[in-house]
Amino acid sequence: MYDYLIVGSGLFGAVFARQATDAGKKVLVIDKRPNIAGNVYTEKIEGIHVHKYGAHIFHTNMKHVWDYVTKFATFNRFTNSPVANYHGELYSLPFNMYTFNKMWGVVTPEEAAAKIEEQKKEAGITEPKNLEEQAISLVGTDIYEKLIKGYTQKQWGRPCTELPAFIIKRLPVRLTFDNNYFNALYQGIPVGGYTKMVENMLDGIEVRLNTDYFENKAELDALAEKVVYTGPIDAFFDFKLGTLEYRSVRFENETLDKPNFQGNAAVNYTDAETPWTRIIEHKWFEFGKDDEGNDIPKTIISREYSSEWKPGDEPYYPVNDEKNGKLYEQYKQLADKEEKVLFGGRLGEYKYYDMDAVIDSALKFAEKEL
Ligand code: FDA
Repeated sequence: MYDYLIVGSGLFGAVFARQATDAGKKVLVIDKRPNIAGNVYTEKIEGIHVHKYGAHIFHTNMKHVWDYVTKFATFNRFTNSPVANYHGELYSLPFNMYTFNKMWGVVTPEEAAAKIEEQKKEAGITEPKNLEEQAISLVGTDIYEKLIKGYTQKQWGRPCTELPAFIIKRLPVRLTFDNNYFNALYQGIPVGGYTKMVENMLDGIEVRLNTDYFENKAELDALAEKVVYTGPIDAFFDFKLGTLEYRSVRFENETLDKPNFQGNAAVNYTDAETPWTRIIEHKWFEFGKDDEGNDIPKTIISREYSSEWKPGDEPYYPVNDEKNGKLYEQYKQLADKEEKVLFGGRLGEYKYYDMDAVIDSALKFAEKEL
């Protein structure tokens, strides 16, 4: 008899499995996918660790989380500095002095600040009625037109004039030459890929892949005292109250017979005409080197397209609107009544979690439970 059956080998499941095992409990991890690691799964192709479910950059200000993950992987010094491509014009992101210099030729922070103020004044918006007006009131017309408008439109599948202003509360403007996207104390990519890191977390723990909990629920339940379920909460209850909605992304991967496609891990396409939102070139997460430190002759890119989600698609981002929020609350009430089953993780709690936040959540959950 196991103490815990853990449904899902993503970060939440893997961290809980590790903590429970270290606390002397007997655990079994199952996952319906053919691989461990959930959405942080990386697959090695042509010597490159390809982020199969979207680019994952680890960043955190939580020292205890950093201390925890670095027990299972060494992290490289990758810093996320995306580039924006607007009809072939390249800009540094997030908005910083390099961006403003390229946009207007301004050289000093005072000049940049004055230019932004001038554009905000010219637009004369006092009470933004939609996302377009909100963005212009925060950063002026040029940055909005070239770097925000098309990208946001593609992401949401609607013109910015039809999107609510509250989506953009603030737009960070840096009057420094700092293009490090995350303001985090600790960041990087695990050397050897995320899958290897999760493999190390699960070291010595029994894992069964290609095992869907719902295909043999009664049998699997009978194996353990308790279940930690990290799959979609609505699926657990057979969608009986309705389906929780997600926003989705579609990835188109391509292997190219050249060493360098775009010279950066992430390039955002900020015009409305290019159909994809961004291109990820995976090798640059690891400075173009394979695990042995050799240059890689090929490259792998992923074009990302925002797509409408329909039931059965891969769930990516929960939709935080009233309808879905209420539905989740109803499911949560049912979940709280389950005596043997505990719910956690991004799908179990219908919540967007960054990796550090999901690890923190799993550690707290384990502390309470064990
Ligand atoms: P996760 O989804 O990883 O794991 C759940 C597991 O349960 C899956 O393996 C699934 O197969 C399994 N499962 C579900 N139902 C099952 C069933 N019935 N039977 C058996 N198994 C079942 N964060 C960050 O810090 N930096 C970043 O750059 C990014 N980037 C990013 C990009 C994109 C596109 C997304 C959507 C998300 C990010 N994230 C991120 C967030 C990150 O992906 C997230 O924090 C973790 O994947 C959450 O881990 P979980 O274990 O909660 O879920």
